[in-house]
Amino acid sequence: MRLTFTLTRFNPETDAQAHDEDYRLDVGRGMTVLDALLRIKDEQDGSLSLRYSCRSAICGSCAMEINGTEKLACRTSVRKELERHGRITVAPLRNLPVIKDLVVDLSSFWAKIRDVTPWLSRPTHAQPAQPAQQMTLLPDSGRFHNVDACIMCGACVAACTSHEVSRNFAGPAALAKADRFLADPREPATAKRARLVRLEQDHGIWDCTRCNFCVEVCPKDVKPMEAIIRLRRAALEAGLTATGGARHITGFVELVREEGRLNEALMPLKVVGNSLGRLLHVLPLGIRMLLKGKAPNPFAPPIPGMAQIRTIFATARQRGKPS
Ligand code: SF4
Ligand code: SF4
Ligand code: FES
Repeated sequence: MRLTFTLTRFNPETDAQAHDEDYRLDVGRGMTVLDALLRIKDEQDGSLSLRYSCRSAICGSCAMEINGTEKLACRTSVRKELERHGRITVAPLRNLPVIKDLVVDLSSFWAKIRDVTPWLSRPTHAQPAQPAQQMTLLPDSGRFHNVDACIMCGACVAACTSHEVSRNFAGPAALAKADRFLADPREPATAKRARLVRLEQDHGIWDCTRCNFCVEVCPKDVKPMEAIIRLRRAALEAGLTATGGARHITGFVELVREEGRLNEALMPLKVVGNSLGRLLHVLPLGIRMLLKGKAPNPFAPPIPGMAQIRTIFATARQRGKPS
């Protein structure tokens, strides 16, 4: 079967901007998108640039946008793409600078991974590890929630809606990596807390919008968003509740516990806390809502059935869930 592949091309030495080019190719059974790209490069246009190595979904270097979704080219079947989309388009990963054609610059990606200190912190000199405290990490498939399966392909970062609007966001891959080390029993508790303190700062765990795209595109089922939720839970349990993101959660829970529902008029006050600066920041929005009749009544009575809601909270507390 002869197919058309539409590839996004960009040569920084000659092109002002990226453009699409079509290539016709005979495809055989079992062919992957990477196989097709390498055939195009060998037989039609040797200037096509792409990155790959293992060809077995191990090294993570061939991530690109195939028919609008971030995928590994080496494990994406041409036939399946054709059945699903009726065409094959290939572009570089989104939201990362393009070096040439399908090759993106991953330096910011690696810098963010380094920023979460992806290694175990040693005990300080004040707390030297005693032989009796040394521990062997026995195989335990559940301990790291599969986060250790990450192959650093960058697909999740390219798909991330938060990264799209804020390039400073730590991003799903780096935060998932941080979760892996937080789950490691060999790291001292003080180091874990220091990790959480760093991660709760601006551009950290509270900047995720929970869009789930990182989970959808990850070729290794790492589920970065779930790792971020674990980090948020750990931060709250460690008493790190001063950030806007943390206050949003604790305020939400407080309102439901007290009134049985979300009181949208009081919620912004719970989030800004007693900071005058933050209050002045949200005040214009509150006034605009009031003038347009969209401000909910802050004095609405609690809903009926409060007794059941209190029972739910009491039961959660008994089971050790934060409430
Ligand atoms: S869930 Fe969070 S980390 Fe994942 S893609 Fe969405 S915003 Fe990014
Ligand atoms: S979390 Fe998944 S998508 Fe993100 S870099 Fe790792 S393997 Fe790739
Ligand atoms: S070439 Fe290594 S993951 Fe595709």
